[in-house]
Amino acid sequence: MTNETEPRQRECQKLIICTLSFSPIIIMAICFAVWRPILVPFPLQVVKMLALHISDDNQRRLDNELRLLEAEWKLYEMEKQFGQQRCNKNEDRSGKDVSWLTVMVSDGFVVPALVLGHSIQTFSCHKTMIALISGNVSKDTQKALQSVGWETRLVEEMDCNWMDAKVGGDRNSGLFGRPLGHRIKGTHTRFYAWNFTEFTKIIYVDADYILMTNIDELFQITEHFAAVPCSRPGVLDLCFNAGLLVIKPDLKTYQRIMKLWRETTEKDTCPNDQVLLNDFYTPGGWKAIPYAYNIRRFVFRPLKSFHYACCRPQKPWIGECRPSRKEAKAFAGPIITVFDMALVFWRNLYEALQKYELEDWWRSTSFFRPTQEFPIASNYTCRLND
Ligand SMILES: *[C@@H]1O[C@H](CO)[C@@H](O)[C@H](O)[C@H]1NC(C)=O
Ligand SMILES: *[C@@H]1O[C@H](CO)[C@@H](O)[C@H](O)[C@H]1NC(C)=O
Ligand SMILES: *[C@@H]1O[C@H](CO)[C@@H](O)[C@H](O)[C@H]1NC(C)=O
Repeated sequence: MTNETEPRQRECQKLIICTLSFSPIIIMAICFAVWRPILVPFPLQVVKMLALHISDDNQRRLDNELRLLEAEWKLYEMEKQFGQQRCNKNEDRSGKDVSWLTVMVSDGFVVPALVLGHSIQTFSCHKTMIALISGNVSKDTQKALQSVGWETRLVEEMDCNWMDAKVGGDRNSGLFGRPLGHRIKGTHTRFYAWNFTEFTKIIYVDADYILMTNIDELFQITEHFAAVPCSRPGVLDLCFNAGLLVIKPDLKTYQRIMKLWRETTEKDTCPNDQVLLNDFYTPGGWKAIPYAYNIRRFVFRPLKSFHYACCRPQKPWIGECRPSRKEAKAFAGPIITVFDMALVFWRNLYEALQKYELEDWWRSTSFFRPTQEFPIASNYTCRLND
């Protein structure tokens, strides 16, 4: 071999190696050129499909939730209509010696008490319903309460003013005066519940509470005292709300509660009834029952009850805005927001007025607002105002 042929050979080898090493790229380039119409749109398509799928999925989830709420409403309507039929068959009407109990110290809470009474009559198999009333409750109000099944019992109303008078004078003035704070009249009257030893079990509920289903299982609680925590699940708050109390009446307990109330007032200032009861039943001293039994301020599931406490929605019978009778009657679920609960309230009230023949009484009260109840045009703007 001469020296001339060697470089040529080498160059040739280089070219082959080069060509070979670039061949995948070349092949790919060819492939790309051929398959381009598919290769570029395909990933785009996938991304688009995924996005669509995610939004569809969300919509499907919402639709699903709505179906569940509609089913809940249907069940509510069915139980309203047929729920009482199971009461007679049910052997577990264990004891006629249990009672519902509420308290009323003025005519102001008669409207919710009628709605509550109607809901108990509709859903509960236990028909003993006692309303403790003070001397301030008018005869007409008493009659209205009795027509939905409340047995009215006259008691002396109890609250901080009452206790202040007992322990000698106004505890909030003078040298060691403390601010009066926000005092609600008659709130301590519920303490009488512990003295009702003629019953083995009492469910005390505030008058602004409504049953959405049968909750008679609460009468079966074996513990001496049960209530619902102050806050909804997930929010830590160690106290209980006094709007629903499951009580085993007991004279000794009644006396001890009254003693603690008196001693605390003498030593310091009069505690409100909920604070006092929470103090009495120290953490761990009461049975916590599910939030579903005392739902307040927002809609929670399962919706076993609703307590029109505080401000959301505004107490329906007090609030400025009110649905017309037609709107309330036409409400056909499902319950999505607390404002729907206001509609449920009115719907039940109008049902009760009809069922228990209270229309004349209703029209004679200061609660009757004909321009809103029978308006020329719809006037229910509560949802918008919130
Ligand atoms: C009941 O009436 C008395 C006398 O009219 C009054 O002093 C008291 O504040 C009233 N109580 C309630 C809860 O309205
Ligand atoms: C407690 O109940 C008893 C018997 O039922 C009754 O005589 C008494 O007056 C009640 N006490 C109070 C403070 O209501
Ligand atoms: C709407 O409600 C208000 C009170 O909030 C009332 O004064 C007014 O007359 C009502 N309008 C109609 C058309 O009924």
